[in-house]
Amino acid sequence: MSHRHIILCTTLLLIASCDASCGSTFDGRVPPNATKALFSSARSPFNPKYVLGQNVSWDQIVTFPESEPSIFDRPVRAKPIEIEISDASVFKSSSEGAETALRRAELLVNNRPSTVSGKRTWFLSLRTSPDRPLNYTHEYVLAFHEAADYQADFWSLKTGYPMTGSYGEIEGRVLYIQGYKWATPVQTFFVAPFFPDTWHNFGLYLDYDDNQLQVFYSTADDPLTLVTPLLPNNLSGKAPTTLGETHIGIQKKPVGANLTNFLYEGYQERGINEGLILGGIWQMDGHPVSCNSSYIRT
Ligand SMILES: *[C@@H]1O[C@H](CO)[C@@H](O)[C@H](O)[C@H]1NC(C)=O
Ligand SMILES: *[C@@H]1O[C@H](CO)[C@@H](O)[C@H](O)[C@H]1NC(C)=O
Ligand SMILES: *[C@@H]1O[C@H](CO)[C@@H](O)[C@H](O)[C@H]1NC(C)=O
Ligand SMILES: *[C@@H]1O[C@H](CO)[C@@H](O)[C@H](O)[C@H]1NC(C)=O
Ligand SMILES: *[C@@H]1O[C@H](CO)[C@@H](O)[C@H](O)[C@H]1NC(C)=O
Ligand SMILES: *[C@@H]1O[C@H](CO)[C@@H](O)[C@H](O)[C@H]1NC(C)=O
Repeated sequence: MSHRHIILCTTLLLIASCDASCGSTFDGRVPPNATKALFSSARSPFNPKYVLGQNVSWDQIVTFPESEPSIFDRPVRAKPIEIEISDASVFKSSSEGAETALRRAELLVNNRPSTVSGKRTWFLSLRTSPDRPLNYTHEYVLAFHEAADYQADFWSLKTGYPMTGSYGEIEGRVLYIQGYKWATPVQTFFVAPFFPDTWHNFGLYLDYDDNQLQVFYSTADDPLTLVTPLLPNNLSGKAPTTLGETHIGIQKKPVGANLTNFLYEGYQERGINEGLILGGIWQMDGHPVSCNSSYIRT
């Protein structure tokens, strides 16, 4: 550890621990020569088999959009991807059968305890698809950390009209970050407009040891800025049942009043042709400020 690093860490000790390496704990940024076939292959950075329609493969629903690279992709010359859902995006799980009321295409980071323990920061950029708009009448989960027993989400990034609850300022075309699924009430930590055709960039600091998180955010090519304090939130981080896995993509919920089980109940229109453009998916070991991350404006 350099002398400068020690000084920086002492100064910043109130906001972050400094035992982090500041290196990468996961890199899902897509190299410029990647083909669709990569995403169905064992070389994919994500699980090549999950989470998508029963009769669908990743190479069928990933495309490479014209969009310029996001701030996280540019330094490593990575390229964005677009992922798509259709009426065929019905996932069949071994435990619960075909989830007929959901439409899913989620890149999955699983069996990687190092991404769901310690003190980590996810970086992620997303933008609307010009050709395949979402329908903001529905709730979409765009990223979340699911417990290993699938019974809890520790945090989630969503858009669209919320299925349940009243979140005041949330009405459709916004991005919002929510906390632990079983908290009463569920906390909404951050809300921002979801502008068309521009990057929305997130840094999500997760302190799995001390159960707190913090949000960094920007749009377009701007560096991230801190938009929340450190917030208490159950991240559990305890093996074996609650370490869990991270999903990034599209999970479209059904609409309908008083649904008791949204896997099977509620309405999904037919003829779905929707997409989401993603870029810059990677995770850093540590807190962006104490790591002096070049992606943030301090
Ligand atoms: C892409 O380029 C990298 C480095 O140049 C190389 O290792 C890799 O095999 C290439 N992948 C494909 C699919 O061509
Ligand atoms: C997948 O294909 C099988 C065999 O044709 C069919 O029984 C099943 O309903 C299909 N699943 C979905 C979600 O379309
Ligand atoms: C945190 O989440 C885990 C997994 O759902 C749960 O077992 C635990 O009871 C939760 N802790 C609190 C304080 O809510
Ligand atoms: C849903 O529940 C509310 C409150 O119990 C009730 O007023 C409403 O009629 C219900 N709607 C439907 C469609 O069942
Ligand atoms: C949006 O979703 C609602 C509910 O599924 C549906 O009634 C409506 O037709 C959809 N709108 C568009 C533009 O697809
Ligand atoms: C942080 O990094 C920038 C370059 O990325 C450098 O100019 C600056 O001096 C660093 N700040 C500290 C406190 O180390």
